Amino acid sequence: MTTIVITGASDGIGAEIARQMADRYGVKAVLVLAARDVAKLQTVASQCAAVGARTLILPVDVSEQSQCIQLIETTVKNFGGIDILINNAGISAQAFLQEVESQKLNLYDYIMRVNHWGSVWCTHAALPHLLASQGRIVAVASLAGLVGLPGLTAYCSSKFAMTGFFESLRTELIDSGVCVTIAYPGFVDTQMRVHRLNAQGEVDSSNRHISKNAMPVEECARLIVQATMRRKRQVVMTTKGKLGQWIKLIAPSWIDRMAIASIKHKP
Ligand SMILES: NC(=O)c1ccc[n+]([C@@H]2O[C@H](COP(=O)([O-])OP(=O)(O)OC[C@H]3O[C@@H](n4cnc5c(N)ncnc54)[C@H](OP(=O)(O)O)[C@@H]3O)[C@@H](O)[C@H]2O)c1
Repeated sequence: MTTIVITGASDGIGAEIARQMADRYGVKAVLVLAARDVAKLQTVASQCAAVGARTLILPVDVSEQSQCIQLIETTVKNFGGIDILINNAGISAQAFLQEVESQKLNLYDYIMRVNHWGSVWCTHAALPHLLASQGRIVAVASLAGLVGLPGLTAYCSSKFAMTGFFESLRTELIDSGVCVTIAYPGFVDTQMRVHRLNAQGEVDSSNRHISKNAMPVEECARLIVQATMRRKRQVVMTTKGKLGQWIKLIAPSWIDRMAIASIKHKP
């Protein structure tokens, strides 16, 4: 049996990774699906169970360390170990720094808790079990974890933090048999923009449109699952994302202009 823990498995990329892992492993899969929305988790679990996978849904808010620890402990208690941990749960915020009043700066703290700390807490709790299984750690970061983007200071900070944490951890684990794969998606066709917070820290319902250039969620999940299976160090999505890495080294100010243009074109 292969035990796979996925955070943010109720929707979007995490839900699709769960379905694709279930397809890949079939009856040999144990999928532990974590997020806050239990009804949505149940839907994903029944889709995975339909191809024979064993599932456990756990209501978890990754912004609370105790719940991250509980997620890992319950998994190990039920299934004896962990083979793959996919740190995917995430939330975005869009606001220019000068629009955020000082008493609302805890928005930055919240985004960090969900995106960065949630990943750190789950990974820390799971590490002894992943060392025992010589397993795989996956971090769903973002191109916003490689390049600064206007209006996304909170989101980029959290994703850059993930990049630093998981790059560093990879070096610590180099001879351990545990691999660390960091995924850097670009724009993906999910509901993330619907859940995005504004300068007041409230859900910004004006942001419902998905870019017509967004990657289908199936393709994004497929690239992440493939990189996980191949124990790749990273998967940078989109041609612009790949080119951007090189341009940043050669002509960093050009990257700033590209970043501004890429956001301007989004609805
Ligand atoms: N969509 C994109 O364009 C894009 C691009 C680059 C990177 N990403 C990254 O991909 C990951 C998945 O995003 P997505 O596009 O699939 O967004 P999504 O459709 O909004 O899904 C986000 C998932 O995270 C979960 N989540 C949010 N806050 C949580 C919390 N406090 N505790 C536990 N789970 C929480 C949500 O579940 P509940 O609400 O049920 O808790 C949901 O399952 C995120 O890390 C995101 O930053 C997305």
